[in-house]
Amino acid sequence: MKFFIDTANLEEIKTAKSWGCLAGVTTNPSLYAKTGGKLADFEGHMLRIAELCEGLPVSAESTATTTEGMIEEGRRLAALAPNIVVKLPICAEGLAATHQLAQEGIKVNMTLIFSVTQALMACSAGARYVSPFVGRFDDIAEDGVGQLADIIQAVKNYYGPDHTEVIAASLRTPRHVAQAALLGSDIATVPFAALEKCMRHPLTDRGLAAFEADWKKVQGLA
Ligand code: E4P
Repeated sequence: MKFFIDTANLEEIKTAKSWGCLAGVTTNPSLYAKTGGKLADFEGHMLRIAELCEGLPVSAESTATTTEGMIEEGRRLAALAPNIVVKLPICAEGLAATHQLAQEGIKVNMTLIFSVTQALMACSAGARYVSPFVGRFDDIAEDGVGQLADIIQAVKNYYGPDHTEVIAASLRTPRHVAQAALLGSDIATVPFAALEKCMRHPLTDRGLAAFEADWKKVQGLA
């Protein structure tokens, strides 16, 4: 499973990239708003992320609400850099825009997926990625991981990763990330704080402290 980071924060992306296991970035309007960014700098900011992560897919989300608007904004975002993936919401307009953009060779990440049928329709329209949301489904007392399992199975049955990759999204904890991996998700997009937790384990910390203490003894320092 590939690790993407779910953020528009440049420092978080730089740090995660320095760990050597980052395979992509996803952003959304809320994550951009969190950086304090303004409308005039939106495309500039997406370009900075794309340049920072050269060669890795970077999802930039359209906020247009009509098919024509999504196609136009999608073309503009895709033209910023070759690694930009256009993120569109699942809805009639989003599907129609995905179909057109895919025909033009522009990769689309279809977002806000909460059902098997939504995922399959996104694949059918030509989405390169589908993003089922786990945490937000849990938030309404539904089974986010169960839904992710069904979507992975359905996409695998009819399409497969050469056509459409599943991005497990709205992941909140290392447990969510591990569950996505065990279910065979192609990608997990993870917020910085959760990504950092994914590499940690209390037994690793305890083991490291013991090694350091013993090495001091070997050096005659303790
Ligand atoms: C997906 O690409 C979204 O940006 C994201 O994972 C949503 O996560 P949230 O539900 O924690 O906001």
